[in-house]
Amino acid sequence: MEHSFSMGRFVITVLPGDGIGPEVTAEALRVLEAVGHRFGHQFEFHEALVGGAAIDATGSPLPPETLDRCRRSDAILLGAVGGPKWDDPAAPVRPEQGLLGLRKAFDLFANLRPVRAFSPLLHATPLKAGIVQGVDILFVRELTGGLYFGPRQEAGPDGEEAYDTMRYTRAEIERVVRLAARLAQGRRKKLTSVDKANVLAASRLWRRVTEAVVRREFPDLALEHILVDAFAMHLIRRPAVFDVVVTENMFGDILTDEAAVLAGSMGMLPSASLGEAPPGLFEPVHGSAPDIAGRDLANPIGAILSGALMLRYGFGLEAEARAIEQAVEAVLEAGYRTQDIADGEARVVGTKEMGEAIAQYIRSEA
Ligand code: IPM
Ligand code: MN
Repeated sequence: MEHSFSMGRFVITVLPGDGIGPEVTAEALRVLEAVGHRFGHQFEFHEALVGGAAIDATGSPLPPETLDRCRRSDAILLGAVGGPKWDDPAAPVRPEQGLLGLRKAFDLFANLRPVRAFSPLLHATPLKAGIVQGVDILFVRELTGGLYFGPRQEAGPDGEEAYDTMRYTRAEIERVVRLAARLAQGRRKKLTSVDKANVLAASRLWRRVTEAVVRREFPDLALEHILVDAFAMHLIRRPAVFDVVVTENMFGDILTDEAAVLAGSMGMLPSASLGEAPPGLFEPVHGSAPDIAGRDLANPIGAILSGALMLRYGFGLEAEARAIEQAVEAVLEAGYRTQDIADGEARVVGTKEMGEAIAQYIRSEA
């Protein structure tokens, strides 16, 4: 695959998906347009179907046309998938298969989920401000292995037995740990690996491989191993001590939802799913939130910050990524809040007004 980013032209497949997905991706695009204008890049957006919306239109959560579009693009921006309409466990297809299919199709083995405590939001969390202050964690969740993709048996005809398998190979662990270690080198040089090595064989392999890779290739890093149950506790007791955290798929899924509390709201968290080559997939961590969909209530910041991660990790545009992050901080500082992060004195705004305020800040800095 040829990927040259010359002349600042980037082709982006946009997959709005379900629930609040379309609303929040619209705001991410608004902000990316503002960045493109200010820095002289041309972002070309192509919309395609995924998830429940794709099931309704085509019968498949990841239609071939969508995969094709993604294949021909430099990055994928996704909103969210899923909703009560498609929740029947007996249904032959589920919206989530669209997302899992994309991860597998592009071998997106590393899911980066940065969690920061924004100072204007220190009081938006149920935790004490003193605990949350200074939190700046980068989770690296393995995304194409483990329980999500291991051998499984659906409940048989009698419905009496089912299983999933946590299976990892050395190569799968090595590549995600290497990526996490490289990221740690550019940060505070601390890497925490989370596993359940006291019980699980897959975790014992995980720990052994992680130890070997880091000792051999990244001797400048401080590496620690923590069991997942203890880590879940430390994460809310002393979250500021963690820098880069690397862990397997399922643990990462659970721990990053827990970590969202540190950022004040699930609506704040962005993510980047990366493979060896583009396209990467960039999406907010929150789901489709059907209860508030279509009401201009959703927090678009997770999607907007996912746009920043696309610029940084997808295109190598660090200054442009920073411009978005600074705009988000400035707008929070100015008191703008969506309902999920509202407090006493806040100026509570809707999805669109929040997106427009962030885009306007970027335009005004030009
Ligand atoms: C996430 C989501 C997905 C996951 C679902 C929608 C399949 O919860 O991205 O964290 O479990 O990975
Ligand atoms: Mn999840």
